[in-house]
Amino acid sequence: MTTQRTLGRSGAEVSALGFGCWAIGGEHRTADGQPVGWGRVDDDESVRAVRRALDLGVTFFDTADCYGTGHSEEILGRALGKRRDEVVLATKWGNVFDPDTRTLTGTDDTPEYARRALTASLRRLGTDHIDLYQLHLAAADPARAAELRDACEEFVREGLIGAYGWSTDDPARAAVFAEGPHCTAVQHALNVLQDAPALLELCERLELASVARSPLAMGLLAGRRGGALEAGDIRSRPPAWLPGYADDGSGADPRWLARIDAVREVLTSGGRTLAQGALAWLWARSPRTVPIPGFRTVAQAEENAGAMAKGPLTAAQLAEIDRLLDR
Ligand SMILES: NC(=O)c1ccc[n+]([C@@H]2O[C@H](COP(=O)([O-])OP(=O)(O)OC[C@H]3O[C@@H](n4cnc5c(N)ncnc54)[C@H](OP(=O)(O)O)[C@@H]3O)[C@@H](O)[C@H]2O)c1
Repeated sequence: MTTQRTLGRSGAEVSALGFGCWAIGGEHRTADGQPVGWGRVDDDESVRAVRRALDLGVTFFDTADCYGTGHSEEILGRALGKRRDEVVLATKWGNVFDPDTRTLTGTDDTPEYARRALTASLRRLGTDHIDLYQLHLAAADPARAAELRDACEEFVREGLIGAYGWSTDDPARAAVFAEGPHCTAVQHALNVLQDAPALLELCERLELASVARSPLAMGLLAGRRGGALEAGDIRSRPPAWLPGYADDGSGADPRWLARIDAVREVLTSGGRTLAQGALAWLWARSPRTVPIPGFRTVAQAEENAGAMAKGPLTAAQLAEIDRLLDR
């Protein structure tokens, strides 16, 4: 049974499983037409899925201002409604976007923009404070980020945010933010097929939460294999930073599927589905991790929340997975 985790230095107790709200933002693109959403969504189903998650004990939700160019925050705010204070709410800033054309238009790493972005997120989410505010620019200049860290400390003093973190896969960058006393998390890619030992070591040493994004390898660890993806789905035309899907839009990369097949039996032990096994691996990997799988349906919400009752894999199973994957 894995139901609660502490969110880094903040001391906040959250459900061991968070919900990632990228996919429910719906379609959006970069200025040159690259899809960066997950295709069409049914907003009413998204709202039902969030509320089902609440009823199943999920108390941590991660979104970003740019997901669906504001739409994800609006839907999450609508779904939470009066229950907002039951949850720890995380969002991100740094990407600039135009909601009218649903286009990402650039980035802004200035403290002035951070304040404007925060004000807009509060409005869309229908709240007066964000519990975890995250810098979304994974490769931002560390010197500029130090100024943003100090701006976040000011937001904490003003009561606008509770804590903050950097969404980056680079331990050196994460360490720059961690110098601020109210930095409490790093958000980074982590799943059975993409380990991140250096970042996890940093989280353990500096008492930060590892908010594990793409915990299901963007659907592959939930059973997605071949099959056409709709044109508005980022996985149909994966940018260079997105692994696991073939460049030609044909779907899953066969090398990833072979690695999943190699560990399937261990992951599906104890009556777990594949997705539940992938989440169980993350809880076993470090006491700091809080996975945030994406979702679009009530059925996915139920299956993913159901992983908590089955708990983490054992140390022996983790070692077996490393052996099977030649790590
Ligand atoms: N900071 C960043 O730069 C960054 C980057 C990526 C993600 N994130 C965050 O991390 C969250 C999760 O990562 P992710 O969106 O990359 O992907 P993920 O969690 O690895 O995969 C989520 C996708 O898997 C499928 N899925 C989920 N549960 C399932 C189930 N029980 N059965 C079958 N399919 C299931 C759904 O897609 P289909 O049904 O369409 O297959 C879902 O959208 C995001 O929502 C976002 O909050 C942040």
